[in-house]
Amino acid sequence: MESTMWNSVIGRADAGIPTGSPDEAGEYVSRNPSRLDDVVARIRLAGPDTLVAAAENAKRAQQEWARVPAPVRGRVIAGFGRLVESNKESLASLVTREIGKPYTEALGEVQEIIDTCDFFVGEGRRLYGQTVPSEMPDKQLFTFRTPVGVATIITAGNFPVAVPSWYLVPALLCGNAVVWKPAEYAAGAARAVAELAWRAGVPGGALNLVYADGEATFQGLETALDKDLVDKVGFTGSSAVGIRVGELCGRYLQSPCLELGGKNPMIVAPDADLDLAVEGALFSGWGTAGQRCTSLGNLIVHRDIHDEFLARLDSAVRGATIGEPNGDVLYGPMLDQKFADNFERILKDIQPHHTVLGSDAVGRITDDAPRAGFRGDPSAGLYYHPVLLDGLHTDDAIFRQETFGPIVGVTTYETLEEAIELGNAPGYGLSAAIYTTDPATAFRFREGIGAGMVSANNSTSGAEAHLPFGGNGRSGNGGRLSGMWVIDQFTRWQSLNWDFSGKLQKAQMDVGAVEPELDYRLPPELSGQS
Ligand code: UN1
Repeated sequence: MESTMWNSVIGRADAGIPTGSPDEAGEYVSRNPSRLDDVVARIRLAGPDTLVAAAENAKRAQQEWARVPAPVRGRVIAGFGRLVESNKESLASLVTREIGKPYTEALGEVQEIIDTCDFFVGEGRRLYGQTVPSEMPDKQLFTFRTPVGVATIITAGNFPVAVPSWYLVPALLCGNAVVWKPAEYAAGAARAVAELAWRAGVPGGALNLVYADGEATFQGLETALDKDLVDKVGFTGSSAVGIRVGELCGRYLQSPCLELGGKNPMIVAPDADLDLAVEGALFSGWGTAGQRCTSLGNLIVHRDIHDEFLARLDSAVRGATIGEPNGDVLYGPMLDQKFADNFERILKDIQPHHTVLGSDAVGRITDDAPRAGFRGDPSAGLYYHPVLLDGLHTDDAIFRQETFGPIVGVTTYETLEEAIELGNAPGYGLSAAIYTTDPATAFRFREGIGAGMVSANNSTSGAEAHLPFGGNGRSGNGGRLSGMWVIDQFTRWQSLNWDFSGKLQKAQMDVGAVEPELDYRLPPELSGQS
């Protein structure tokens, strides 16, 4: 790919988007984290005014887009899905190159866009409202779903193409216009997705791609909200930033869609199939280098099987191949330098009471701290040893905080109630898993755990694209993406009451009277008391 400099606002040539930012705020170079000398994209970063200008542009375009019949908007989404499908391998390669996600996972990620489009094509022919009976004659009630307006979507880069599609596809299908601010370190992937959406027929003004850093985005969003240019905010990222976004939106009486971090527990019950549980823990905890919001955080293992399970898991983690993400590896590099830096900070929270397992060293994989079986040249990228940490206490930072890296902590339990309490203790509530062969244990766990998504005998990660995705507590504000549930984020209900009686009929007052004989009691022959 070329590494020419891209503007801070990218749009279709015909979109009327201001090219060249009036308030540029520097440049950003997006690098391949598995080969840091490979520059994937160079971008100019926008300042706050550019975000406001993009929201104005979206506002201008939104009503026209909303007037396109929903089934026709659905056909645009169908075209987008087909275009993504035809470009599946190149888009997946770009994801691998830009954020270091193993290629097979990147293919899965691209498939998630296709699945999302397939789901929403049909929604273009539904978007059902209701006809509702009135309490008065000659009057009919209806409900309609109306688009919210302009949505500002701010996405993380760990799922640089799938997670944006969870917002963009339903938002556009429902007749909204979008300002999309992707993660800077996934600028190239964002550009490719936007390009495919425009080529599918999404009008330039209905989808505005803006590159900016967090602070400029926040300031621009505040001004745009103040000028009534933004009607909905979608944010996927850390809980700390989500709280700021939520506070800001709350001041403008808006409820954003917040998809935040997780400290996702996995319970291993004494009756679990241990091989299955080891496989699930390995993929959940270290797959994607632990950089999914749904990655496994705490393993909560029944004390009777702790030693056996841990021995097997330790050997699986030690045996896993790490390295160059184009190959067959469990995981590749960290997404970007800032995630490597964050992981270095997390590693400082390892305490003397912890037992460190999973690899021969901790920290960056180097020639001096090698990893057995490493594939490729570790010094070329941001590669880290996996950590399996036994002996976690509930007040340890690693037990309580999201780590977003290849580290999993282990603690033990005795009763299911205790396991549920440990699972809920960190206060997040995104995803949770249990390994058990007893259905009653699985259903009791589901009832007690606070997570929005629960797995029985499967990974904490890997949610399917048509189930509600989202969390509770520190993981979000209850909003759900995906499937039919996300439609509530991007539409508002409007009711219509239509009176054709030719007179003013007043609700509650002009309603026909019903007078039941409330003091009636069944006579003996009808009461069974003869
Ligand atoms: C995320 O990490 O932000 O369920 C999303 C999963 C993926 C999506 C993760 N389908 O793990």
